[in-house]
Amino acid sequence: MATEPEPEILPIHTPELFDRALRRAVELLRAGEVVAVPTETVYGLAANALDAQAVQRIFHIKGRPAHNPVIVHVADLAMARRCVAAWPEAAERLAAAFWPGPLTLVLPRAATIPPVVTGGGPTVGVRWPSHPFIQALIRQCGFPLAAPSANPASGLSPTTAAHVRKSLGGRIRLIVDGGPTQIGIESTVVDISSTPFRVLRPGMIHLESLRAATGPAGTWSSDSEPGPPGQPPRSPGLLGRHYAPRARLVVWVWHDDAELKARLAQVPLDQAPACHLIVYSRLPAGWPAERVSVLPRDPAAFARALYAELHRCDEAGASLIVVEAVPETAAWEGIRDRLRRAAS
Ligand code: TXA
Ligand code: MG
Repeated sequence: MATEPEPEILPIHTPELFDRALRRAVELLRAGEVVAVPTETVYGLAANALDAQAVQRIFHIKGRPAHNPVIVHVADLAMARRCVAAWPEAAERLAAAFWPGPLTLVLPRAATIPPVVTGGGPTVGVRWPSHPFIQALIRQCGFPLAAPSANPASGLSPTTAAHVRKSLGGRIRLIVDGGPTQIGIESTVVDISSTPFRVLRPGMIHLESLRAATGPAGTWSSDSEPGPPGQPPRSPGLLGRHYAPRARLVVWVWHDDAELKARLAQVPLDQAPACHLIVYSRLPAGWPAERVSVLPRDPAAFARALYAELHRCDEAGASLIVVEAVPETAAWEGIRDRLRRAAS
């Protein structure tokens, strides 16, 4: 059997290396190829958003269903406005408050955006990321980049180049290695193409700050469910099990070691030996060190570390991952959402 070719992996931690990776990525993208690149949230699998065939390759590599739209990444406001058919006051305010950064705005698509990008739908998700590499890349290319997270469909998003290599290595030519990503979970996706505005995917920018930014320019629905029953989902990527490790994941609350122990005693015997714990408030006594991760209690730091821990559990052959339930406050909204999806 022929072995899959290994991708080129180019680091960017010096100006020379950055420029070299940039030149190579531009060359491949201009030729209609797909390249894995770091963003501040997670690694993305990028292609020319104006080239339907190139975007088609992304779907093929990920095994992504054709109806699930991909986000278009831009490098300034003018480029964002060229991707959409309308730029309301709310878009102006949200962009001013959060761009460049982890926020995706869903708006009516411009005719230049091929239907494959939008999953055949009338809207397009646009984001101006803050990572310097993807910014330089978009500017050099001169076209926006369509990029979903660089993982097989419905799997866990990659926060390091090694994660990308492990899951997609044989299927892509180049991975640009920017080290671990800064934010660690995917962008907040908001639909402002109709009113009330709606959070389609929570993230580190939460509803309270979105409301504050739009002010009188719009009202927000406070439910983030994927649309009314019986109608097509507003965001197919939000349905079902998603953002999930291979292992079964559960989110538990426990008050002391005895309670944790009692709950664990009910875990089926075949899952018990490879049960990993992810905690942030206290370390259970006597738990084997190689099967527990203690994450920071701060939501930004927790988000930054979470996916790497889940990837690590999978690599270690975990069959069950028990995650300590996180606080119910707004700052943890995006994290609660991802844990819920991973556990579904
Ligand atoms: O942080 C991020 O958003 C990362 C980095 C690479 O930018 N990208 C990312 O893309 O997470 P992806 O494709 O894995 O997730 C995008 C989500 C999906 O749930 C998709 O359904 C939704 O955004 N989405 C994209 N365009 C949309 C649209 N026009 N209408 C509704 N939902 C949309
Ligand atoms: Mg994804």
